[in-house]
Amino acid sequence: MERIGILTSGGDAPGMNACIRAAVRAASAQGLEIFGIRRGYAGLIRGEIEPLDRRSVTNIIHQGGTILGTARSPEFMTSEGRATAIENLRKAGIEGLILIGGDGTFHGGTVLSQECGVSIIGVPGTIDNDVYGTDYTIGFDTAVNCALEAIDRIRDTALSHERLFFVEVMGRRTGFIALESGVAGGAEELLIPEVSMSVDELCSHLERSFKGEKKSAIVVVAETEQPGDSFRIAQEVRDKVGFDSRVCILGHIQRGGSPTARDRVLAGKLGIAAVQALAAGKSGYMVGEINWRVAYTPLQYTWEKGKELNVELVEMRKLLCE
Ligand code: F6P
Repeated sequence: MERIGILTSGGDAPGMNACIRAAVRAASAQGLEIFGIRRGYAGLIRGEIEPLDRRSVTNIIHQGGTILGTARSPEFMTSEGRATAIENLRKAGIEGLILIGGDGTFHGGTVLSQECGVSIIGVPGTIDNDVYGTDYTIGFDTAVNCALEAIDRIRDTALSHERLFFVEVMGRRTGFIALESGVAGGAEELLIPEVSMSVDELCSHLERSFKGEKKSAIVVVAETEQPGDSFRIAQEVRDKVGFDSRVCILGHIQRGGSPTARDRVLAGKLGIAAVQALAAGKSGYMVGEINWRVAYTPLQYTWEKGKELNVELVEMRKLLCE
């Protein structure tokens, strides 16, 4: 193999740049040429492919977002779109491709690897941490710390006004960000899709704690299909038990910003591992980290198998925070 490509796809995540930097430098150390593909699969279809070298990735390790740009590309899910993408890879002489993204990216990558002769290696990059085959995804730690800082700030005002707050965090159908930021921020309640809790149950928990010493509380809510659902929950709680509350939706703030040390180190490790995997002739795998070691998971499993929440953390929050 002489020439490889790299792209970022789906939602951007802090640490993607650190991963691109690591892959470019590892490729150059291996004597491989590396090309950046702009705007994810959308750019691959449009043939937006340009050479990268050690110098093109200087001073990006601390930057959030992705220098390559990203997109969600419905066109890539069509066979015509993929045929154009494959033709562009062929014209550019790219024999191996690194995909940095989440389960949607790897779904596309699985189909691509079945349809073309290019070797494909995925690297998990998403704030949601909802990818099977890795303990953590690149960007998750930064997003959790961003949510945590917000929770800490809200606690100051919640305490001062003796108020109930609902803080809605991202996670796209999963509660990883909510759980970890909720545990770290001492959230009194947690609403996540993996653990069912009705509004009635929530109300009775809140009533119980407000009858005791508590004068304020924070409920961390994982976003649902429809972001902003916490407004509905807050209203239902108000209607049922009369608690006045405020809602804070953190939204895309969690996606930006300088990556934490943990995300940068993980990004470096997996960027290097991806290049080494391609150089060793591997294809159709995601490189992740399990128990601190690089692990190879078939790309298909990463989106087919659901990743489980850490139940110990769920229990731990109950014991410490309620
Ligand atoms: O997958 C990352 C993520 O930020 C999710 O947490 C969120 O549900 C989604 O992307 C938002 O997507 P978009 O930026 O396309 O609105």
